[in-house]
Amino acid sequence: MVPNKKMEALLNKQMNAEFYNSHLYQAMAGWFEGQNLPGFASWMEIQAGEERGHAMKFYNHLKERRGAILVGAVPAAPVKYKGALDAIQAAFDHEVHVSQEINKMMETALAEKDFAAVEMLRWFVTEQVEEEANVDAILQQLKMVGESKGSLMYIDRHVGKRKAA
Ligand SMILES: [Fe+2]
Ligand SMILES: [Fe+2]
Repeated sequence: MVPNKKMEALLNKQMNAEFYNSHLYQAMAGWFEGQNLPGFASWMEIQAGEERGHAMKFYNHLKERRGAILVGAVPAAPVKYKGALDAIQAAFDHEVHVSQEINKMMETALAEKDFAAVEMLRWFVTEQVEEEANVDAILQQLKMVGESKGSLMYIDRHVGKRKAA
C-alpha cells in the first residue's frame, strides 16, 4: 500500500537524515585521521557505512511501497572538534536526537494507521537503543580515563577493534 503524503514526506525526511548521519560520521572519521587516532577513525568509518544502510532501509521501504523517493542534498557536517571527547559527545547527542525523531515518526505512523511503516520503524526504535549505547560506552571510557595522549592511544586501540557488521 502506497504511504499517504504525510508518511511519504516523513519517510523521505528520515532517509535524507540518515544519509546526513553517514556524512557526519565520515567527517568525524576524517577528523580522527588528522589526530592520528586510526582506531577511532575506523570506528567512525564503519558507523558511516551503517548509517548509509539505515538510509537504504527507508529508500527500499519507499521503493517497495511505490512511494516517491526524493534523495536530497546532504548538508555539510562539522569537520572540526575540540578533542576526542568533544567529538564523541557530539556523536552521542546526535544519536539521542535521532532517537527522538524516530519516536516522533512512530507516533505519526500509529496515528495515521500506517502499520507497514510502524513495523519498519520498530526495527529503528530497537536499533537506536543500541546506537546510543555503543557511543555512550566510548563516551564513558573517555570521561573515565581523560584525554592524555596515553589514554587516547589506549582507547584508540580498543575502539579500533570494531568490525563491520
Ligand atoms: Fe541511523
Ligand atoms: Fe546512528
